[in-house]
Amino acid sequence: MKKLIVANWKMNPINIQEAQDIFEGLRKRCDLALRSNPEIVICPPFIYLSQLSGITLGAQNCYWEEKGAYTGEVSVAMLKELGCQYVIVGHSERRKYFMETDEMVNKKTKAVLEAGLTPIVCIGETQEEREGDKTEAILEEEITKGLEGIDLSKIVIAYEPIWAIGTGNACDVDEAQRMKEVILKMTSKDVKIIYGGSANASNAEGYLKQANFDGLLVGGASLNPQEFTQIISLAK
Ligand code: PGA
Repeated sequence: MKKLIVANWKMNPINIQEAQDIFEGLRKRCDLALRSNPEIVICPPFIYLSQLSGITLGAQNCYWEEKGAYTGEVSVAMLKELGCQYVIVGHSERRKYFMETDEMVNKKTKAVLEAGLTPIVCIGETQEEREGDKTEAILEEEITKGLEGIDLSKIVIAYEPIWAIGTGNACDVDEAQRMKEVILKMTSKDVKIIYGGSANASNAEGYLKQANFDGLLVGGASLNPQEFTQIISLAK
């Protein structure tokens, strides 16, 4: 099965010129062979989406209503119009800073699927939850509430231990693999599971080959075209 390598640019870079430079740097390195296997998805900030093309695009968030009086929100229909094929849903930063709940994640995931796009639903535990031996309970809750009524064969789950995101403290490959098995037991063997949390060119191989994740969600390292290309080449 094709691996899926997703770049989450978060709220970076600060201007369109830089966004185009990073994108072009990446596109140049990703020749057709690299592009066909694995699948590469770039998720830039909303406002850059219309300016970038040549690699599959995804969004970092969406709203579940199609249109209307929802100031500041962006609907899946709008993202589809811009050529997005994927939408990241329920990233831990959205849960933490924008109070997203599992119920909201569920509505967003359904809206993405209804529009024919693929949701990448993020789940994962905090350091405190891990230390309190609550990891499995948290994942179970995020899955039962967030993915209620959803055809799991049509989505991607990103296991992102929150303590590993942006910290340089990536999850041990063995432990990530164990969590993947736990998530598989709670879901279905048809679901794609990718890993995220300080993934980089040095540790990518472990997640992709040893732990056999279906792909990676890459934040910081995806803004460096050279490093991101190295990650992609490990997923071939
Ligand atoms: P990171 O971010 O690779 O910078 O840890 C991953 C993510 O938040 O998706």
